[in-house]
Amino acid sequence: VTNRTFTMLKPDAIEKGHIGAILEKINASGFRIVALKLTEMTKADAETFYAVHNERPFFGELVEYMTRGPIVAAVLEKENAVEDFRALIGATNPADAADGTIRKLYAASIGENAVHGSDSDENVAIESAFHFSGRELF
Ligand code: CMP
Repeated sequence: VTNRTFTMLKPDAIEKGHIGAILEKINASGFRIVALKLTEMTKADAETFYAVHNERPFFGELVEYMTRGPIVAAVLEKENAVEDFRALIGATNPADAADGTIRKLYAASIGENAVHGSDSDENVAIESAFHFSGRELF
């Protein structure tokens, strides 16, 4: 069944000039871009978006990282979108990510890991609504 996932290309990926290459790989892997924008997160945005991690030792670092520059937010459509996109991006730690995955190719470290992918349909809805209004979804 065709469904959606939500992704962000994180500040490190934008800083290194990888927007085009990553979007190309996403398209080539069969995902249709339903929504897309260059935007940025305020500190309050990042604290809310990552609230599930707020007890973790890396939370401060994560908020700093995600607010240091622009991100690309996107909604993607494909059969089995959530699971297939997580396979395409690879493990959280690029050192553990499979060859050919986006994190293996473009991520520097477990913290600066280039790309986000929603982990459930429920979070796709929450995270998409965080960044996009209904009229920005095509
Ligand atoms: P993601 O899985 O997309 O969402 C949570 C983020 O927290 C994760 O990507 C990393 O950017 C960051 N993160 C996860 N684990 C660590 C860690 N051990 N140290 C620093 N940052 C981390």
